[in-house]
Amino acid sequence: MTVDKKWVEKGYIDEPVADGVDLAKEIRNLCKEKNAVILAHYYTTGDIQQVADFIGDSLALARKAADTKADIIVMCGVHFMAETCKILSPEKTVICPDLNAGCSLADSCKAEDLKKFKEEHPGYKVVSYVNTTAAVKALTDVVVTSGNAKKIVDTFPKDEKLIFGPDYNLGSYINSVTGRNMLLWNGGCHVHERFSAQEIVRLKKEHPGAEVLVHPECKGPVVALADVVGSTAVLLKHAVESDTKEFIVATESGILYEMTNKCPEKTFIPVPPEVSEGSLGCSCNECDYMKMNTLRKIYNALKCEWPTVEVAPEIARDAVKPIERMLELS
Ligand code: 13P
Ligand code: SF4
Repeated sequence: MTVDKKWVEKGYIDEPVADGVDLAKEIRNLCKEKNAVILAHYYTTGDIQQVADFIGDSLALARKAADTKADIIVMCGVHFMAETCKILSPEKTVICPDLNAGCSLADSCKAEDLKKFKEEHPGYKVVSYVNTTAAVKALTDVVVTSGNAKKIVDTFPKDEKLIFGPDYNLGSYINSVTGRNMLLWNGGCHVHERFSAQEIVRLKKEHPGAEVLVHPECKGPVVALADVVGSTAVLLKHAVESDTKEFIVATESGILYEMTNKCPEKTFIPVPPEVSEGSLGCSCNECDYMKMNTLRKIYNALKCEWPTVEVAPEIARDAVKPIERMLELS
């Protein structure tokens, strides 16, 4: 099916659908007809998590992408997640419902800058967070996610010289729990960097019995206040298994959907971000990139089998090794 030029220019198809069309039902029908599978990250909206075949953190999504028997993978997350699917399953059609769904953290590390940094630091191995472009992964020795970073870094000899990028906060946290001194790239996520330690202290006073759940992309002072630090899946698992009834949550607000879904009797309190001087007091703790996924874009993308994500073969050849290494080690 040819896609109208206007949508190609935009990077997604948002063709209106007739009133009364049950998009979730139509999407499931298309998945059946085309042998397609929908993978969604916990930061997508609840309606997408409901329609997905599988929801998970970055690690679980990468594992699923490597294992699925489907012909088409619709990756409802952000662009680097779709790239990882394509690298692990090159023979499949991988759809990213909106090609503009980037990641500020992945953007903070350009391949040419990392290449230069490596040249300036001979003898160092590169550990890259999964939130990176395929081109950066191709320059990497091993990929990690927030769910397995400690375990994988621990596999290197204690005296191994390591560069960790691009997330400075995650790197500092992993340095602190492994007793290493990895060289850290100075990148960050625009959502996680804004969570406020002061707000956590205030919320803790109001809810003294609550446990504080923090994603390691948050800044050091926020991580220092955490009862549990971990990936979205780790935080969710803890919320389910803990006897505590109230949780203060410092990560993107999409995770609250599955937390509330799995534990309807518990209370989850999102941490507001810092309000910077001159801002309008926006209390937004959402990843605008993750929220670019909508049911209508997914429906149109499945119908047209576009927008697809491609990775140049010479980059895929080098990027697959550190991803497979991660899957073996975790
Ligand atoms: P997780 O690996 O914890 O799901 O995190 C992905 C992400 O993008 C965090 O901002
Ligand atoms: Fe990237 Fe941050 Fe969005 Fe995660 S929350 S996808 S790190 S911009």
